[in-house]
Amino acid sequence: MCGIVGYIGNKEAIPILVEGLKRLEYRGYDSAGVAILSNEKIIIEKESGKISELEKAISKSPLPGNLGIAHTRWATHGYPNKENAHPHADCTGRLALIHNGIIENYAAIKTNLQANGHKFITETDTEALVHLIEEYYCNGNNLDEAVRAALSQVQGTYGIVVISSSEPDTLIAAKKGSPLVIGMGENEYVIASDVSAIISHTKNVSYLEDNEMAVVKRNKVTIKTIENLEVNKKVEKIAFDLDKIEKCGYDHFMLKEIMEQPQTIEDATRGRLIAEEGTARLGGIRHEIESLIYAPHMLLSACGTSWHAALIGEYMIEEFVRTTVEVEYASEFRYRDPVIERGSVMFVISQSGETADTLAAMKEAKRKGAKVLGICNVVGSTIARESDAGVYLHAGPEIGVASTKAFTSQVTVLALLTLLLARMRNLGASKGVEIVNAIKALPKSVAKILENHDTIKEIAEAYYKSQNFLYLGRGYNFPVALEGALKLKEISYIHAEGYPAAEMKHGPIALIDENMPVVVIATKDSIYDKITSNIEEVKARRGRIIAIATEGDEEIKKRADHVIYVPPTLEFLTPILTIIPLQLLAYYIAILRDCDVDQPRNLAKSVTVE
Ligand code: AGP
Repeated sequence: MCGIVGYIGNKEAIPILVEGLKRLEYRGYDSAGVAILSNEKIIIEKESGKISELEKAISKSPLPGNLGIAHTRWATHGYPNKENAHPHADCTGRLALIHNGIIENYAAIKTNLQANGHKFITETDTEALVHLIEEYYCNGNNLDEAVRAALSQVQGTYGIVVISSSEPDTLIAAKKGSPLVIGMGENEYVIASDVSAIISHTKNVSYLEDNEMAVVKRNKVTIKTIENLEVNKKVEKIAFDLDKIEKCGYDHFMLKEIMEQPQTIEDATRGRLIAEEGTARLGGIRHEIESLIYAPHMLLSACGTSWHAALIGEYMIEEFVRTTVEVEYASEFRYRDPVIERGSVMFVISQSGETADTLAAMKEAKRKGAKVLGICNVVGSTIARESDAGVYLHAGPEIGVASTKAFTSQVTVLALLTLLLARMRNLGASKGVEIVNAIKALPKSVAKILENHDTIKEIAEAYYKSQNFLYLGRGYNFPVALEGALKLKEISYIHAEGYPAAEMKHGPIALIDENMPVVVIATKDSIYDKITSNIEEVKARRGRIIAIATEGDEEIKKRADHVIYVPPTLEFLTPILTIIPLQLLAYYIAILRDCDVDQPRNLAKSVTVE
């Protein structure tokens, strides 16, 4: 999952490409490079490390030219170093190519081409593709024809952009499995992995579908299939403004996105709560309600943080709608040959809408006859476009690699879905009204928790040197324990595990001693007494306890070393509140450990490869 950008127009390409790369850096940041057509030659400059390293290199030798491509990498094949960084060139140096995805049959292609005399200089899968294009290009095909011929032999996924010094007015882009967007400006085109690299140039975009390519000239773009059939593509408008992808005075995107949650939770409910009827409406799935209400079986599938939200969705829907729900790791579901009953409905949950495993799980469920609905944040993303219907989070762009606001919006949307379906089943109007009011009160409660960030910072100062953490929760707060542990792992590199509190006795309790911080989500709910016994079990082994508790619970102070309070709410809504202190705790611990919270090592925001 890399970030790719291409530019053709009248302006100097380098500043546009570098700015584009910076906007896409959250997609991969272990090495970067550019290729510019300059004085009829293709000049390639690449560096290992962050884009700032590439910028330094470029500043030493200016690269004039108004046709170019650029890439920021998340290595899949070949160590993240200067040689393996993109763009890759062919033997003649006439072609340059950037790629996001995996060429699965690259080894076979490489062997054939080496037998034909091609010289390979990198360990990457991508290099095989540029040499394959070269093979056709040198046999009288133009760039368009050569790219199509080569792609017809490729297995795997790709978003590519290719340029040639022999065709100074042409840029070729093609997509299969990895996202690619064409930005249409005034006499210029910006091609990128997502709209964040395009928005400062134009809001007019077209999203390429699988097996589509774009032949981009200086004043015209032709979109067609790899089989050379022209496609009449609609132009869409980007739905947000540039400031949405700025830090707005915060030190990090992650902190900005944590602090945005009172607003984003409100945005997730806007126009979707019907207070007088004590119910909700979700326009995007209004035509699917019948199939949802009578579905014998509901599946929720996702990865990472979105999978944790799905777990909470399972608890909610089973408690209030009384429909059987199964939560599936998308990466397992796609290869497990799952049993899909007739009339089953699957929700795929994805912030980016581009996660390869979730996309594949969706295709597998569709193949087996399930109705597939999406819960996504990124408008126009592949999952949003390919699902039968769906619900947008309206959380705005999430740039920080560690997902925060998307999680609380996902759980909020799942609460709205639960209310909508439950009111069509056995839930009465007065209980419905109570739930509507409780959901409406969430933004204020979240704002109150965020005001307390200094206390959470102080607690982080007491624990940031720890090497291990254990997170415990019960019921609705078990997935919150998993999510809290994931946040800490992702950005502070501390080993952390989330566990159902009662499971602790069956093994993890062996880890507990005076060096083991244990975060326990112990809000006042139907299983409060049970969780306080678990706290006692930890205390008995001298574990250090950070408790997430309900305001007014003075008792818990006697049991825990540190307590972070959240306002009361309905039990099934508590995850939307109890996760906030855990996001901040992870953030402050990572800062104290001098970690790069927005671009943690080895991670990327959108996992577009298997
Ligand atoms: C969460 O902080 C991570 N970035 C990661 O686990 C993420 O949730 C996962 O890759 C799924 O992404 P998606 O919601 O965009 O599909």
